[in-house]
Amino acid sequence: MPHSRYSDLDRPPLSEAALNRALVHPGSLWTGVTVVDSTGSTNADLARAAKDGAPEGTVLVAEAQQAGRGRLGRSWSAPARSGLTFSIVLRPAVPVAAQGWLSLLYGVAAASAVRRLAEVEVGLKWPNDLLIDERKLAGVLAERSDDAVVIGMGMNVTLRPEELPVETATSLAIEKAACLDRDPLLRAVLREVESHYRDWTEAGGDADASGLRAAYLAASATVGRQVRVELPGGRALTGRATGVDHAGHLQVESGGERHTLSAGDVVHVRAVN
Ligand code: BTN
Repeated sequence: MPHSRYSDLDRPPLSEAALNRALVHPGSLWTGVTVVDSTGSTNADLARAAKDGAPEGTVLVAEAQQAGRGRLGRSWSAPARSGLTFSIVLRPAVPVAAQGWLSLLYGVAAASAVRRLAEVEVGLKWPNDLLIDERKLAGVLAERSDDAVVIGMGMNVTLRPEELPVETATSLAIEKAACLDRDPLLRAVLREVESHYRDWTEAGGDADASGLRAAYLAASATVGRQVRVELPGGRALTGRATGVDHAGHLQVESGGERHTLSAGDVVHVRAVN
């Protein structure tokens, strides 16, 4: 039988027209939503588009990706239409020093959307992995492209246990979430991003004045925990995560010293004490 976009009834395609009707209107941050059946990486596509002048609020959704990119040089792969894989272009008019908060803002917004629609408890592993009970539901990758920032998210929605890329991953279906419909989930994430982004840009990128730091700390599954952070270059640091600084960097106390980390892979090594 020929392959059809409708062949898996649990995984219906997204409607580009419906998403544009819901999200793109005068005054909205979102300027256009494109849905493609397949591409290499939505982040790579929008990084190129941003260099060519794509406006803030451009959204690209792929039903499947062949070369999805993850943080720290990793990849992101998922069966077609089993989740959400999409990217956005932002052009934040805030000081570059504050822009590290943007990817954390995205995590806060996405976690809040998922909690509300899917009725599952979601925590954030620094900087922005969405976790349910320590298992990864979604990841976020922010990449600079000239004066734009491209932020992509991969979220596992109907992924079945045998399809998980790693044992430590999960999906909304596995967690028996209240919503497995990708359309309202995508709309909710984008609306939450818009609302947090407006507050943050209106506050000039100040994470305290905009309430972003407080929202991040409330959602954080990392701050207050004993962690091991695998750093770029192969070193690792073990200590207690104590906070997030003005630039969105993780603060870790280890051996009586405070370290400030701009990148790394956090492992939660034991429960809150
Ligand atoms: C991570 O957890 O390491 C981040 C994963 C980000 C994956 C998404 S899928 C859509 C967008 N396009 C990409 O190539 N990557 C991001």
